[in-house]
Amino acid sequence: MLKVKSAGLGFRHGSAVNPVLQDISFRVEACGSCAIIGPSGCGKTSLLFLLAGLLQPTAGSIEITGNPRSGTILQNFGLFPWKTVGQNIGLGLVIQGANRDRVHRRVEQLLDEMGLVGFGEHYPGQLSGGMQQRVALARALAVDPEILFMDEPLSSLDALTRERLQNLILDVWQSKKITTVLVTHSIEEAVFLGKRIIVLSRRPGRVLRIVENSEAGCIDYRQTENYFHQCTELRAILQGEYDGQEA
Ligand SMILES: Nc1ncnc2c1ncn2[C@@H]1O[C@H](COP(=O)(O)OP(=O)(O)OP(=O)(O)O)[C@@H](O)[C@H]1O
Ligand SMILES: [Mg+2]
Repeated sequence: MLKVKSAGLGFRHGSAVNPVLQDISFRVEACGSCAIIGPSGCGKTSLLFLLAGLLQPTAGSIEITGNPRSGTILQNFGLFPWKTVGQNIGLGLVIQGANRDRVHRRVEQLLDEMGLVGFGEHYPGQLSGGMQQRVALARALAVDPEILFMDEPLSSLDALTRERLQNLILDVWQSKKITTVLVTHSIEEAVFLGKRIIVLSRRPGRVLRIVENSEAGCIDYRQTENYFHQCTELRAILQGEYDGQEA
């Protein structure tokens, strides 16, 4: 469904070009899940922007089969501060031309699923960071996306809420057959949610390793020995990158 071929990205800074991503190649199958992990500043957000079509690569190519409906969760939530929580969640549906009843029902359902009942009329600035992240997740899910791009969607949540929402993302991926691409800093989250894990090197980001994690996708995976083994292995791969970095 998604094919990245030798993709590169550089940002112009005066007369110089700062390379951010180099020679990135991997693919994500339809209904598959892919986690992207790597040190801070290595280009994960830039890569997600390339995949979501918000940036164009300066080398190589990104191919997406068909024209899937996509939902995107940005690292800083990307909520509109002048719209209420309910209006933010329903935005994609309104743009699609859904009628008011349908928007209202879907928004109420998502407020309930995200533990935000009673906050529909609040503005994002009146919510905590974790609540705003849940609004962003609800907004992305509202349009029933076929592919979901997420940039650290759960980073501001407490451990148990985070696990609950990881389970929700797993359920969405599995039951609705959505292709998911998740950028995360969390080794455990990458292993729980990524059937394929793309490990990036420090800046400029290159693919350090592609870890096949075929057992991901099962709600009980966290309790298995293989899960623990995959986390340990991923930590060791990443450790090598952090060891060479200044503090
Ligand atoms: N619009 C831009 N113009 C110039 N440089 C940029 C731009 N966006 C990102 N960069 C540079 O690209 C590099 C990678 O940034 P990016 O945000 O993709 O990293 P990241 O892996 O998502 O980091 P983090 O884990 O901290 O979120 C950084 O060095 C950043 O300065
Ligand atoms: Mg980022």
